[in-house]
Amino acid sequence: MAFASPGVKLHMEFKKEFLEKLHTAKKIIFFTGAGISAESGISTFRGKDGIWNKMKPEELANFNAFMRNPDLVWEWYQHRRDIVHKAQPNAGHTAIAKLEKFLDVSVVTQNIDNLHRRAGSTKIFELHGNIERNFCVDCRTFYNMPELELTHGVPKCKKCGGLVRPDVVWFGEMLPQDQFAGGEKAAEQSDICFVVGTSAIVYPAAYIPMSAKQAGSFIVEINIEPTELTRYADYSLFGKAGEILPEILDIVK
Ligand code: OAD
Ligand code: ZN
Repeated sequence: MAFASPGVKLHMEFKKEFLEKLHTAKKIIFFTGAGISAESGISTFRGKDGIWNKMKPEELANFNAFMRNPDLVWEWYQHRRDIVHKAQPNAGHTAIAKLEKFLDVSVVTQNIDNLHRRAGSTKIFELHGNIERNFCVDCRTFYNMPELELTHGVPKCKKCGGLVRPDVVWFGEMLPQDQFAGGEKAAEQSDICFVVGTSAIVYPAAYIPMSAKQAGSFIVEINIEPTELTRYADYSLFGKAGEILPEILDIVK
């Protein structure tokens, strides 16, 4: 395991090994979490300014809370949508998108902020949903954000009048099976797996880098601090995703 310090050129040893891997690597996967969007101004969940320090997940991010007080939960997601809409993809998201020109890249993300897509990535598995999509809790009709007439409080389904909720995974809910299965397959087939800006403690999402590891993929973590995954990683590069990922792009191109 070797480390790069923030703000300096990537460690020579890592660079050498990464270049060697690139000779034969066919598929690369990026497993991302809230930390990749931190430099876009979107709060992470844990840590000192984390969302879960200020908000109780059981009052907002679960189905019972929504049924008890749909307007409150909807309002909170509207607030998060406003933040996401004002945010722009950062140099980290953009570097991953640009890598598609050179390599077979899959993105498996825990983020709901849609920033990978806005940055131009095309092969994305969204394990926790997407804040731009919504669906009716009664008939499961899907609504994209602009289609919803935003009246005060939670919108109602145009077909059946049911409550419309954001298509995000709440506590106690299953992950979208197609997205998880697709992400797991991409992990198992990958030659190199970057794990970026995630505490890697929320399961089942955190099985993704473990599947890659078990399949023999080269695991490279990018984070500002050590995580649960650090001991499994071949390399941990400590620094900001928005600074390190462009350096990775420079090595590849
Ligand atoms: P966390 O908030 O748990 O972790 C964010 C990680 O990003 C931490 O390890 C930070 O050290 C790191 N980080 C912060 N800024 C960074 C930067 N500029 N560059 C690189 N790394 C940085 O967020 P997640 O791991 O995404 O689930 O959390 C996983 C899940 O827990 C979320 O998807 C959400 C939450 O409950 C659901 O809502 C279902
Ligand atoms: Zn409906």
